Amino acid sequence: MAQGWESLRKDGIHDPRGPAVKDKQEPAEALSKLTPDTAGNMVRWVQALEKGEINPRASIRPGTKIQVYDSDVLLNVQGGMPIVRFPHRQHTEWLDCSNCHDHLFKAQAGANKLSMLAILEGEQCGVCHGAVSFPLTECFRCHSVPRPGQSLNTVPKTLPGGSIPPRSR
Ligand code: HEC
Ligand code: HEC
Ligand code: HEC
Repeated sequence: MAQGWESLRKDGIHDPRGPAVKDKQEPAEALSKLTPDTAGNMVRWVQALEKGEINPRASIRPGTKIQVYDSDVLLNVQGGMPIVRFPHRQHTEWLDCSNCHDHLFKAQAGANKLSMLAILEGEQCGVCHGAVSFPLTECFRCHSVPRPGQSLNTVPKTLPGGSIPPRSR
């Protein structure tokens, strides 16, 4: 728990003098019980869900159709980094199709022009990753399929377009 979680009194969001702050559960108390991660908010959410450590409500309204789609799509088949494997199952266990289709991505393999720069600017995968899901410093969680002779640890010093990749803390 090296980095830990900020106490509600110090998070800059809650009023430390307010009467309610003492009645709320501290993030450290809730989150330290879940499978740990080394980045973001320090919980490996996909594993926490798979192991049954959490059991979130699937919908707000009764009768909402839940659809889990189990299909992986390989994205940067041409690039120099390890290939990006986009897993539908791990996404659709949390998200409805309409979170992505079709306003972010056309539902057809290879039909979208994806780019790391756009992602770093908060578009495409970056709408969520780095905002509400694991951060963009975790290169190899997306670039997870090594090409022949490649290992999953060398981060290039510059990205296409010359920008510098974000560093993990
Ligand atoms: C949330 C998932 C995700 C994360 C995290 C991520 N990438 Fe990417 N990356 C992508 C996608 C998607 C593409 C676009 C694939 C394509 O070019 O069609 C891409 C493309 C790239 C490319 C250009 C294509 C290639 O393979 O040469 C580079 C370079 C790259 N990423 C480097 C990085 C580095 C370095 C990091 C970590 C600092 C990183 N990426 C983190 C998803 C991600
Ligand atoms: C988090 C975003 C996201 C969600 C949620 C999502 N998709 Fe996708 N989907 C993608 C991406 C990214 C691709 C790949 C597009 C490409 O290759 O350019 C894709 C591709 C597809 C494809 C074509 C490739 C294949 O697997 O046959 C279909 C069909 C598809 N999605 C259906 C669905 C359905 C049905 C749901 C809901 C049950 C869903 N998607 C939810 C992002 C998402
Ligand atoms: C609409 C929001 C959204 C978009 C867009 C999105 N993701 Fe995700 N992604 C999530 C959520 C939520 C999770 C599960 C929580 C977490 O791992 O942080 C997740 C999990 C993942 C995982 C599984 C991590 C694990 O631990 O197994 C991978 C890999 C991934 N995303 C890659 C991508 C790539 C590549 C793209 C773009 C093509 C993308 N995501 C676009 C929300 C999104």
